[in-house]
Amino acid sequence: MQVIQNCAVIGAGTMGSGIAQVAASAGLPVTMIDASADALGRGMQRIQDSLARLVKKGTLKPEDAEAITKRIKPSPELSEAGGADLVIEAIFEDEAVKRATWEKLNAACRADAIFASNTSSISISRLAAAVANPERFIGMHFFNPVPVMKLIEVIRGNRTSPEACATVVELSKRLGKNADRGQRLPRLHLHRVLMPLINEAIFAVYEGVAKPEAIDEIFKLGMAHPMGPLTLADFIGLDVCLNIMEVLQRGFRRSQVPPLSAAAPDGRLR
Ligand code: NAI
Repeated sequence: MQVIQNCAVIGAGTMGSGIAQVAASAGLPVTMIDASADALGRGMQRIQDSLARLVKKGTLKPEDAEAITKRIKPSPELSEAGGADLVIEAIFEDEAVKRATWEKLNAACRADAIFASNTSSISISRLAAAVANPERFIGMHFFNPVPVMKLIEVIRGNRTSPEACATVVELSKRLGKNADRGQRLPRLHLHRVLMPLINEAIFAVYEGVAKPEAIDEIFKLGMAHPMGPLTLADFIGLDVCLNIMEVLQRGFRRSQVPPLSAAAPDGRLR
């Protein structure tokens, strides 16, 4: 097992900025890379706001917040991932875009680096085919918001080595998370259970059965869920939900994707 000393996070969006924050909070120097300068700026701002909230709550000292921020180096250049022990990719959920990015990372990074994708739905084995050492490629599926949620699903591809898995499980613990050794989609995986629920809730709205607020209320009052499935869908992002449902649909050939997931006018249900 390798002990990860530093990492690069590719993508400074919702997930990438959260992952960079928790890695830097665990003491790792982090290079946070995004193709968009605006996204990098927004990602750094999101991290500073999140740390400022912890300082205000009294759970983080101001000097520690400053030290965490300083450990994160934002960059627009993929080549800056070259020295990383671990590269965690959290870019758009698009297989072609991810594969092209992994090909470039494969060329830029050390041969002994571990490569992890935060994909919600794309096969780890298929992504691993883009790099020279698929045994060092693994899924690290974080949950949103990353600094709050305590689970990482560690997903092995066909060729992921036990050593890479052990390395990532050990790192997950250092990040303060429980590592669940999940299986590849479309088998056992949180989304296999969650997404059909969200999908049916969207169908219920689409077919005029109930308003989104009413469906969410049922789950909060009747099931003691902290938020209803439609609020959760908005939180995850309808585009991300749609991608996952399409992967499940291809895998199981039994769920239909309601047109409303793709056609909500402003990309939200409520
Ligand atoms: P996002 O849209 O907030 O961020 C994606 C970022 O990637 C953007 O800032 C974009 O500029 C950047 N990007 C896109 N292509 C790039 C490239 N070729 N090189 C460098 N940067 C690039 O997306 P989000 O929500 O953070 O999702 C990222 C990944 O995490 C997806 O694979 C998603 O399925 C997964 N995920 C999302 C969760 C969620 O609740 N949003 C939960 C768990 C996983």
